[in-house]
Amino acid sequence: MSEPIPGPVAVLTGAGISAESGVPTFRGEGGLWRNFRPEQLATPEAFRRDPALVWEWYDWRRGLIDSCAPNAAHETLAEMEAALPDLTLITQNVDGLHQAAGSHNVLELHGNIWRTRCTGCGRVSEDRQVLLPEIPPRCPECGALLRPDVVWFGESLPLEVLDAAWAAAACCRLMLVVGTSAVVQPAASLPLVALRNGARLVEVNPAETPLSAQAHEILRGPAAEVLPEWWRKREP
Ligand code: OAD
Repeated sequence: MSEPIPGPVAVLTGAGISAESGVPTFRGEGGLWRNFRPEQLATPEAFRRDPALVWEWYDWRRGLIDSCAPNAAHETLAEMEAALPDLTLITQNVDGLHQAAGSHNVLELHGNIWRTRCTGCGRVSEDRQVLLPEIPPRCPECGALLRPDVVWFGESLPLEVLDAAWAAAACCRLMLVVGTSAVVQPAASLPLVALRNGARLVEVNPAETPLSAQAHEILRGPAAEVLPEWWRKREP
């Protein structure tokens, strides 16, 4: 028998949802590149010091992501968006796999690895080239250095996106938290906002997180296995 889903629904995803697509998580095994931790490369200081090194890392990640396809968990969230009247997908991922799976209403808290932003004129462009012909790349308009259009440690999140995510978390009746270690702020606060406003919290993660103790339901397993199964029992 199917249990109805209370609406509106908010979903927060992290690197774990893309793990089964082959994209390494940040805090798990296999995420390291040349022995650098992401915190050493994903910063404005690292980019000022050595833009070529930071771009080599992004070029490597872009190549890796380009070879990955959305998995059953991304596809399930796209199906949920199509089937439910009010679902907001909030992601910390920059890989674009939610959109590739068919989700439309996606709030990207940390930007997108397939966009560049000019450090001179501010121009934002999509760039799907793998691998980049020039490292570090330069703006075709003004010649200044381009940077990935992502949020680095120590930087603010795009305000409009954060506001929309906050609003979705505050008004949802169900919050699904999928594949995030729930330790990076401000994203990690969104489930707490939902809880404070009386939402039901469902966590999807093979490992325990700081949120687990407060979750009403926990799907302990890889998202591509447990999320489709959970949705099949509930889809309207
Ligand atoms: P993390 O790498 O911190 O956490 C990944 C989470 O996914 C962990 O809790 C794993 O247990 C879980 N996980 C692993 N495999 C999974 C699977 N198959 N299915 C479901 N869950 C699985 O990634 P995030 O929480 O996304 O920020 O990290 C948050 C932010 O920290 C990132 O957006 C990035 C990073 O530094 C910036 O770059 C600004």
